[in-house]
Amino acid sequence: MDIKSIVSKDPIGEEVEVKGWVRTFRSNRFIALNDGSTSKNLQVVIDFENMDESLLKRVTTGACIHVAGKITESLGAGQSVELAAVSLEILGDANADVYPLQPKKHSLEFLREIAHLRPRTQTFGAVFRIRHAMQFAVHKYFNDNGFFQVHTPIITGSDAEGAGEMFRVSMLDPENPPKTEEGEINWKEDFFGKETNLTVSGQLEGELFAMGLGKIYTFGPTFRAENSNTTRHLAEFWMIEPEVAFNDLFDNMDLAEDCLKYVIKYALENCMDDLELLAKRQEDEEKQLSQDKRTIPLLEKLQFVADNEFVRCSYTDAIDILKNSKPNKKKKFNYFIDEWGADLQSEHERYLVEKHFGKPVILYDYPAKIKAFYMRLNDDGETVRAMDILFPGIGEIVGGSQREERYDVLKKKIEEFDIEEESMWWYLDTRRFGTCVHSGFGLGFERLISFVTGMNNIRDVIPFPRTPKSAEF
Ligand code: 4AD
Ligand code: MG
Repeated sequence: MDIKSIVSKDPIGEEVEVKGWVRTFRSNRFIALNDGSTSKNLQVVIDFENMDESLLKRVTTGACIHVAGKITESLGAGQSVELAAVSLEILGDANADVYPLQPKKHSLEFLREIAHLRPRTQTFGAVFRIRHAMQFAVHKYFNDNGFFQVHTPIITGSDAEGAGEMFRVSMLDPENPPKTEEGEINWKEDFFGKETNLTVSGQLEGELFAMGLGKIYTFGPTFRAENSNTTRHLAEFWMIEPEVAFNDLFDNMDLAEDCLKYVIKYALENCMDDLELLAKRQEDEEKQLSQDKRTIPLLEKLQFVADNEFVRCSYTDAIDILKNSKPNKKKKFNYFIDEWGADLQSEHERYLVEKHFGKPVILYDYPAKIKAFYMRLNDDGETVRAMDILFPGIGEIVGGSQREERYDVLKKKIEEFDIEEESMWWYLDTRRFGTCVHSGFGLGFERLISFVTGMNNIRDVIPFPRTPKSAEF
């Protein structure tokens, strides 16, 4: 029986068998056993006078054991039932002299170095059970709302975001690549007969399917070769990208807000044990900090976001707020905001969310110059129907837009952005045949998990983080 069933059902008097990993063994009598099914440990009680002593010596932190016995009521604090062991078998030893995990608090940095063992810790057990629940909630949300999931390609020839931050996919000999007559690398001789890369976004292919199936979403890995070493960036991350025919920018905002609230509520309704554990963790971490440096308690924060309307604010209004803000006037921002058109840095986004509005914010109608080519141009000729959703402690969690559906305008944009038109023939075709208003957005899955778990570093919410100079495991 798994430990989750035991601690949730309290089957007193039942004979059970349990397998799991030893968290602690104290007084030669009490084993805290965990099998990953829940954050709760099962207390196994050993009658040490009737057990082989050499066997008990091998019950160390990290050892894998198999115990059989009877569930009894527990007199100790902290659990209602325990397992009175009748037999115990060691499945896998963990030599305490060399096993890196000990029953004490390890730093997250240290645990990152042993990412192959961190799933066995309480914190990471909780994070990854929540991660699972959240991906399930995402699929449930879209399925229940009539969306179809589309598996967009991972290898592609396009740079959807036009930012050029792509990982090349090539089978050419790096020492001696074939050359064209002009002396350039001849990609025609490469595996796919053209230049290819790992996808930065499934959006463009997603749009093609929205133009046939109406409401679609993608949920897949995306790759960005940007040299950003921050607590919010990964080189490999997972993204959810819905795309909806006939939705305008405001329908798009409604969808994103509804989706975020749904998945956060799902966590509150289905992951309480793990959330409580992480809430306590955050509280402990912040004990040393002064009151004003502490963040809102995790559960309160999640409930607040689930229950309150997001603020909607145009880029132009946001610039006015920032220009006149204290940190800007006192030159406290690293990037001074002096004029319309400036790209917002995460310090500005966080000021708006955390200090000015105190709520999630949807910024929209950004300058065309700082956004991607596919966004719909507004009548002012200066701004595009873009939106970013900014969350407390996270900054941008969603980026989306209404798409340019007018063939001529899109074609002109492609030229202006210096994108090879021939490579976009299939994308342009959707605007030549049966075009319509449509919109979509991208939700960064790890940023969502960071928010929900309160884990401050994005490296701690993905099983095996890929960042500049780091691809271990
Ligand atoms: O804003 P981005 O770049 O938008 C797109 O890729 C669009 N094609 C989405 C769309 O309209 N379908 O990325 C979307 C989201 C960001 O808001 C952020 O949450 C996340 O993806 N993201 C990252 N997460 C982790 N590490 C990175 N390097 C990320 N870059 C973006
Ligand atoms: Mg963005």
